[in-house]
Amino acid sequence: MKRILLFILPILIIVAIVLTVFGIIQIRFEEDKLMDDLQRKTRTVAESVDLAARYALVNTDLKVANRLVGKFQGRERLQGCVIYDKEGQVFAITERIAAWREKGKPYLTDILSSKLPRAALEKFKEYSVYSYILPILDDEDNVLGLVEVIYDTSYMYVILTELWKRISVALIILVFLIGAISFLIQRQMFILPVQRLTRWFHSFQRGEIDTLHSIKSKGELGKLASEVEQVALSLRVARKAVSEEAHARIAKDELWTEAKLKDLTHAKLGEKAFFVVSNREPFMHIVDEVSGKARCIRPASGVVTAIDPILRACGGTWVAHGAGNADKKFVNSKNKLGVPPEDIRYILKRVWLSKEEEDGYYYGFANEGLWPLCHITHTRPIFRETDWQMYKKVNQKFCDAILEELPAKSPFVFIQDYHFTLLAKLIKEKRPDATIALFWHIPWPNPEVFTICPYQKEIIDGMLACDLIGFHVQFHCNNFLETANRLIECRVDTEKFSIVRANKETIIRSFPISINGSLSVDARKIDAEAIAQIRQEFDLEGKIVAIGVDRIDYTKGIIERILAIDRFLEKYPQYKNKFVFVQLAAPSRTHIQRYHELIAEIDELVEKKNWKHSDGSWKPIVYLKKYFSQGEIRPFYILGDICIVSSLHDGMNLVAKEYISVKKDNSGALVLSCFTGASKELTDAISINPYSIEEFADAIKTAIEMPLKEKTKRMENMRKIVSENNIYKWAGAIITELSALKKA
Ligand code: F6P
Repeated sequence: MKRILLFILPILIIVAIVLTVFGIIQIRFEEDKLMDDLQRKTRTVAESVDLAARYALVNTDLKVANRLVGKFQGRERLQGCVIYDKEGQVFAITERIAAWREKGKPYLTDILSSKLPRAALEKFKEYSVYSYILPILDDEDNVLGLVEVIYDTSYMYVILTELWKRISVALIILVFLIGAISFLIQRQMFILPVQRLTRWFHSFQRGEIDTLHSIKSKGELGKLASEVEQVALSLRVARKAVSEEAHARIAKDELWTEAKLKDLTHAKLGEKAFFVVSNREPFMHIVDEVSGKARCIRPASGVVTAIDPILRACGGTWVAHGAGNADKKFVNSKNKLGVPPEDIRYILKRVWLSKEEEDGYYYGFANEGLWPLCHITHTRPIFRETDWQMYKKVNQKFCDAILEELPAKSPFVFIQDYHFTLLAKLIKEKRPDATIALFWHIPWPNPEVFTICPYQKEIIDGMLACDLIGFHVQFHCNNFLETANRLIECRVDTEKFSIVRANKETIIRSFPISINGSLSVDARKIDAEAIAQIRQEFDLEGKIVAIGVDRIDYTKGIIERILAIDRFLEKYPQYKNKFVFVQLAAPSRTHIQRYHELIAEIDELVEKKNWKHSDGSWKPIVYLKKYFSQGEIRPFYILGDICIVSSLHDGMNLVAKEYISVKKDNSGALVLSCFTGASKELTDAISINPYSIEEFADAIKTAIEMPLKEKTKRMENMRKIVSENNIYKWAGAIITELSALKKA
């Protein structure tokens, strides 16, 4: 639209200027014509009374003079007539202009002496009048007096104003017509063909159509079209070649890598577009409080850790809530940007939420309702009707944002987590051809627990619009099958692990999520210097270091961890001054009261236990409460002799896997809660029940005192599991399953 305006606006301005100048000239011309006319008329009238006036003046006959001027009393435009004597004194005057007598007329003396007529516009009361004065001469050319004829000129202004109006209307109509015609010509000649060419390019290079484009013109547009045609053809050929190569490579039985996943995606999804939806965005722009400058961060989120490497490998579009306070500055007009910013691999589309929407949908329903409902940590879920309404509204908003992006044919949509239980149903209503998977990143509780939720049926119904639902562990799949079976009318197929509802089948599978298993560029740069700096800053030299890395969340068992460390030092005081626990803790969901209270609770407990055990400059707990980037966390993992993961309930827990993956030298020990999904795979970790503080304290001692050989062996086993079952394998399994369900 802006471009069309840029094209049309100068034309309109020029037309408007030309027409206005033309209008002014025409008005002037008309005005002159009217004045000439008036002059002619007044002169004729004055000359017509010349003889009678001469008679009246010669005979000083006031009666004749009054009769003469009285004739003008009833005329419409002619206001009146005045007869002056040779001294310039009024001899007779039409009654209705009697007040004219009072007006000063310095010019009369000149007319009497020059004997020449005078025509001029004069002011009479508030009107403009036209006055014509004719000297009356006798036969010897002596001045007998003067005759003045006065005309009303207001009719001239009426005529001129009317003319102006007509010219203006013509101008407006013309400008509008020219604008409309230019727009239509532009659209017909340029916009429509380019739109058609774009659509053709999009479909042809993906192999969706085989027909040629319709532009046959030989001009510049034709040349552009033929260039586009060549590029589309090359792209199509290149895509085909890559896809064939990909098929060959994935057949090889080797470790899953980014390249192998890329191949699989090509082979399984072909040219179909891949869309990921999550609440949390993988890259967030925030204004740095210190420098005031905007910077890009990766939020502390399991979803981000897991999904980002997949999209880096496969490309596609990730739709997420733009929650950063500087996010709006970095998107284009379609709310999109290429990410990662330093090496663009895929598209991030940001969806904007108002404060009320975020409050009801994210803080309220998702995190005060579903989150505590699904995590068995004895935090009571809160369900408010207003939050539910907002949750539904935001699911619809995300649906609209996704529908805008979906291509014409059979797209794949991969939804993340409990924020979007209704999304699949909403998408399928408009796009039944979409193949949709949902991955549930948190635990799924047993049916008794789930029935607490007042919206249980709508949630299950919404989720069953998916073609595939994934959980981390089989136990959560079983819980889900049982929940659906109890709550809604459906058929559960325990052989196939699927649920059939109204002729629609949803496959339920476990896919244990993981990490990419290789060090990031940042991490590779980490050297002894960075670690030495941390050791020095926190006085860790020569100490046994245990680390914890978490979002501050009541599910993570941070309180239990501190209590266990306290008990460990009480029970085994020989480790005082020798042991330090470093907790990296990222504040999260701080608008929720429970999280707010938890932060204060942890602060107080750390302070209390440090005071209790401290000795000189030594204190057992270093509590670092802030957001840490992945690059900042890695040196802590490397120097950590022990990593403690003590979640009270956790879908998977990727911190455990990250720690193992970083320990390239097979050093270190993992103390892992038996209530995490990760504990099902990482059986060589030192397993704990975080609620049992005694057992937990002893596990810390076991981790410290475990013989090096055993530690190394355990770490080696766990590293093998993490590197084999990496995130690419996870995504590969989901894509393989999903592509088997592909809609036509
Ligand atoms: O798995 C649940 C999850 O969505 C994970 O992505 C992540 O660990 C955590 O919750 C992040 O929560 P939030 O996005 O609310 O900060």
